[in-house]
Amino acid sequence: MEYKSTLDFAKKMDQNDPLRSFRDEFYIPRHEGNETLYFTGNSLGLQPRQTASYLNEELILWRERGVEGHFEGKRPWFHYHKFAKESLAKIVGADNDEVVAMNSLTTNLHLLMVSFYRPSTGRFKIITEAGAFPSDQYALESQVRFHGFNPDETLIEIKPREGEDVLRTEDIIRRIEESANELALVMFSGVQYFTGQFFDIKAITKAGHKAGALVGFDLAHAAGNVPLHLHDDEVDFAVWCHYKYLNAGPGSVAGAFVHARHENNPDLPRFAGWWGHSEEERFLMKKGFKPMIGADGWQLSNANVLTTAALLASLEVIDRADMKRMGAKSELLTGYLEFLLKETFTESKLKILTPSAMEEKGCQLSLSLPGSGRDVFDKLLAEGVITDWREPNLGKGQAGIIRIAPVPLYNRFEDVFKFVQLLEKAMS
Ligand SMILES: Cc1ncc(COP(=O)(O)O)c(C=O)c1O
Repeated sequence: MEYKSTLDFAKKMDQNDPLRSFRDEFYIPRHEGNETLYFTGNSLGLQPRQTASYLNEELILWRERGVEGHFEGKRPWFHYHKFAKESLAKIVGADNDEVVAMNSLTTNLHLLMVSFYRPSTGRFKIITEAGAFPSDQYALESQVRFHGFNPDETLIEIKPREGEDVLRTEDIIRRIEESANELALVMFSGVQYFTGQFFDIKAITKAGHKAGALVGFDLAHAAGNVPLHLHDDEVDFAVWCHYKYLNAGPGSVAGAFVHARHENNPDLPRFAGWWGHSEEERFLMKKGFKPMIGADGWQLSNANVLTTAALLASLEVIDRADMKRMGAKSELLTGYLEFLLKETFTESKLKILTPSAMEEKGCQLSLSLPGSGRDVFDKLLAEGVITDWREPNLGKGQAGIIRIAPVPLYNRFEDVFKFVQLLEKAMS
């Protein structure tokens, strides 16, 4: 694509965008009477206009039928989690049985580590990226301690090479190979929250398995953002949230994936609850846990209907928009942002930490503005430009960053053009 740095060009791109009408299906937050330039779909995706009616359907069912709503209405609550399966499976590249909407992200990470982190005295180590999202760090450390190991001797955190900002796949694989005899688990992000780097899930999984370990991913920043093929890539398990690129609202129900090769294994240790128990027998109130086949067997509690309703509203929009078309637009839109930033700023004024190659990123770019990042972020906010600020995640000498994520469902090329103009003003 030959980009041009003019407003006319940006507007033409919008006119030719097959997804342009989807923006009208979302509420765009306002600032001093005008629409904001909203670039934080990587943190909290916007509210689809149809969300309220999906929620209201369940409120009405509850109001009018009470407990009967479990077995009546358009989507009986007894089966509620199932209505999200087909769309979620498409988004993460899985079979329907391999995915389930349940709990919250960190809860799911703990639940699946109960099954898939089973350290022994010889094989107990976990490889992960340095500077992973804090909740993941705390989950890993506490799981390690729970099993009686010392996190300092157990967690191998891979850092970028000196002078580099992101990890090289070859370095990740080398570290996995070096630890092969003692590795129990490889636990990585799909897309790294700080740098926006999209890791090579297939290569990492293959290396982890070759080393005799199991492999899991936190897809908080990947689900709904980048193409995923969890089944074909043979990932053992994955977890994600739905409030970022999947627009299901703050704190909404999260997602989990368990590969089909583990689905029928009742011997896998797990923390059990009645909603993971065989559906036919659930209300027989019998002793003895019999897990449902697939990811459903990891459920604990009855479905959180109201937040799952918000998820269903959003998945309906995504199904129509289609992940392939969203991916194609995302490449063009983030490509345009990168082009404009490189045209406007030298690297000494603004450095893009996110890799440039399309297969190594999603829609987010992470910008380092030596010396002045935080006040530039504040100035943008005052102009109604919503980006987000992140403190350094690797410590010494590192600067904080501005993350900006133009999302294909509701961001326009015009938004990106205006952002770069306002950024230039804020930095001058
Ligand atoms: C990568 C990543 N992991 C974990 C979390 C924690 O999610 P939750 O609070 O939904 O458990 C977040 C939250 O933003 C995240 O970005």
